[in-house]
Amino acid sequence: MVHRRTQVAIVGAGPAGLLLGALLACHDIDAVIVEQRSAEYVLGRIRAGVLEQTTVDLLREAGVADRCLKEGLTHDGIELSFDGALHRIDFRALTGKHVTVYGQTEVTHDLMQLRAGGNLITDYEAEDVQIEGFDGEHPVVHYVKNGVVQELACDFIAGCDGYHGICRASVPRDAISTYEKVYPFGWLGILADVPPCDHELIYANHERGFALASMRSATRSRYYVQAPLDADLADWPDERIWDELAVRLGPQVAAKLERAPAIEKSLAPLRSFVAEPMRWGRLFLAGDAAHIVPPTGAKGLNLAASDVRFLAEGLIDACRTGAMDGLDGYSRRALARVWKAERFSWWFTSLIHRVPETGAFGRRMQVAELDYIRTSQAAQTTLAENYVGLPLD
Ligand code: FAD
Ligand code: DHB
Repeated sequence: MVHRRTQVAIVGAGPAGLLLGALLACHDIDAVIVEQRSAEYVLGRIRAGVLEQTTVDLLREAGVADRCLKEGLTHDGIELSFDGALHRIDFRALTGKHVTVYGQTEVTHDLMQLRAGGNLITDYEAEDVQIEGFDGEHPVVHYVKNGVVQELACDFIAGCDGYHGICRASVPRDAISTYEKVYPFGWLGILADVPPCDHELIYANHERGFALASMRSATRSRYYVQAPLDADLADWPDERIWDELAVRLGPQVAAKLERAPAIEKSLAPLRSFVAEPMRWGRLFLAGDAAHIVPPTGAKGLNLAASDVRFLAEGLIDACRTGAMDGLDGYSRRALARVWKAERFSWWFTSLIHRVPETGAFGRRMQVAELDYIRTSQAAQTTLAENYVGLPLD
């Protein structure tokens, strides 16, 4: 058995864990990350693509924003497509802010490079990860690496291990309340090396279902179509997805839609989920380990980043001076922002998808609300200020 000690043990090397590790390293706080998958697997997951300004600021603070600032695409607005036309929401004019299109894989890559360069320890392919002692003074993370049992003693555990991780599941059931909504449809995503069909993202409400035109760069596009939860990828050859996108995005956009074989194709279910509080003793949950939003509005990664910002502040204080006020306030502070992002993601999802379950009345409500957004600057501002990201209080 190998025994080690660190100040903060971070479980999970997704964006939340890696970013927390980077911020702690900036303040000379010792942290070890324990990840169950390989580095290649983590890097291969195609997920989010849109960063709020506060997330980019945080990457900068962590010393890892150079490539994002150079290669990220600045977007000053989005297009909503409904009723056969495109309607622009001008973030810059409405809020003075923008978002940056830069893939989660790139953020992850940059954070991994930083760890490698700083000789910071990340134990990938850790098996049978378990945590204990976090309800007292001496938390420990146990796992097996290359057949050898590892015991990592620490002052605090950061549970950054995603929705299916073990950290939230290790808290006594009656100590955490959970809130959940499961949507009756999913997103079928396709990644392809073709130039985007528009210079901004297009969110389309169409009678055949939602579609989203997004991108990763000037030469790589990311598209999604609303699909049944039980859709079988085998029934969705590339051409069917391209045909569906062409119809749902409308003729004006279809004329500029370039097709190519998919590099990646996946079906993601949509869920809203919050666990509260986000703390139990010396265990602190951050990112998807504590909450999930449906992807509409691109909040998942950005919420993980704001949690990490609040958590890093608390941990730095606690490790340096022993002051616990930051950590004591962490859950309340993070959840205040989480619930607002949950509300926005739920609202945008309900507005822009085809939801037969809500009936003819539900459809009329959508039509009325979309028309209200089209004609009201106040409604557009509400959408814009939530999309670009609410302030970090
Ligand atoms: P994760 O990225 O899930 O990272 C958690 C890490 O913990 C993983 O590397 C995992 O392997 C590791 N782990 C799990 N269990 C253990 C364990 N027992 N021990 C050790 N390590 C463990 N957001 C958007 O904004 N836009 C999108 O388009 C979008 N698409 C998505 C598609 C999918 C399929 C999914 C699942 C999510 C998507 N998201 C999207 C959400 C966004 O990717 C997440 O919010 C973001 O990844 C959260 O980061 P995280 O670090 O909290 O969690
Ligand atoms: C992407 C994903 C989203 O959920 C979204 O709202 C915008 C863009 C993307 O993967 O590019």
